[in-house]
Amino acid sequence: MSTDAIVLLKDDHKQIRKLFKDFENAGETAYAAKGKLVDRIIELLTVHTYIENEVMYPRVRELLPELEDDVLESYEEHHVADVLVVELAAMKPDAERFTAKTTVLIENVRHHIEEEEQEWFPKVREGLGRNVLQQIGAEMQKVRKTAPKRPSQPSALKKTIDAVIA
Ligand SMILES: [Fe+2]
Ligand SMILES: [Fe+2]
Repeated sequence: MSTDAIVLLKDDHKQIRKLFKDFENAGETAYAAKGKLVDRIIELLTVHTYIENEVMYPRVRELLPELEDDVLESYEEHHVADVLVVELAAMKPDAERFTAKTTVLIENVRHHIEEEEQEWFPKVREGLGRNVLQQIGAEMQKVRKTAPKRPSQPSALKKTIDAVIA
């Protein structure tokens, strides 16, 4: 199985997008279903942003300094998503603002995923090449095993704090 970093990240994106669609297709008052979908979205996003923050972004920043601005912008977009995720994780699915907050999270993450896939992943592929991307991917798979799944886990909180004070 390929460990190409970009292939792995795009595969995550695909799963996340599918859950977004499922949420949008769920009925307005399908609270139990929507709550489950949001739980799953939170888990996938927490793991995904963690491996990008811990492995992909720092490697790209180090190896391709010309992409520094893209990386910094991406960290900020993750941070906005983190804030929404923390709030959603504490909210009941039948709360007045639950669907609105999820919708804003979905809009933000879709935009972010699109920028990664359309704008900077192609530059990263060109700049790093196959072998380096395979190494980065292997490292991400290792980190994924111990990545936080909920925003309240200490390693996820640390990531959020680092984004503010770093
Ligand atoms: Fe990202
Ligand atoms: Fe991503």
